Amino acid sequence: MNEVMRAIYGRRSTRSYLPEQISDESLSLILDAGLWAPTARNMQEIRFAVVRNADIMNEIKADFAACDDRGALARDFDHNAPVFIFLFGPKAWPYSEIDAGIAVENMAIAAEGLGLGSVIIGVIRDFMRSAAGEKWLKRFGLPEDYHFVIGLALGKIKSPTPVHPIAGDRIIML
Ligand SMILES: Cc1cc2nc3c(=O)[nH]c(=O)nc-3n(C[C@H](O)[C@H](O)[C@H](O)COP(=O)(O)O)c2cc1C
Repeated sequence: MNEVMRAIYGRRSTRSYLPEQISDESLSLILDAGLWAPTARNMQEIRFAVVRNADIMNEIKADFAACDDRGALARDFDHNAPVFIFLFGPKAWPYSEIDAGIAVENMAIAAEGLGLGSVIIGVIRDFMRSAAGEKWLKRFGLPEDYHFVIGLALGKIKSPTPVHPIAGDRIIML
């Protein structure tokens, strides 16, 4: 099968990861896939904050759990993946969500192509845009006119995710 189609068909949201890190080479290729994603008007404004440090991630997770009414359950929004990539875009740019969405899927497909698992994470968006979450933007060194758009948890797959059915009746052919 065509390699690109194999990766598109094969990608599943992975929610069970091995604790070990992915290689620097794989991470670099996956980040390149994000950088090479198309952006509206070729603005290339999306920023990628990569967290591989468990202490930093645990701090973010504790902050999120303190704000989320699911408490301890909310802690594991990253599914304990060894890498988490936060994507940010300018608040005022109307295509930030789309640009980051394309970049995150490019990275998810690249991960699949490299035999790694990933899952797109949106559950932290309200938190990341609150005062408690915005402090992290400062710590990452992002400009004040940026906000969080979407995240990607990434790592080696511990348990594969079962395939789910795809509703194919959504195409209108004229
Ligand atoms: C915009 C967006 C936000 C998502 N947020 C989360 C999330 O916060 N946590 C999570 O476990 N999965 C999240 N997912 C993954 C979806 O649940 C998943 O893609 C969907 O169930 C289909 O499964 P599949 O990716 O294995 O095909 C998100 C996916 C998208 C596209």
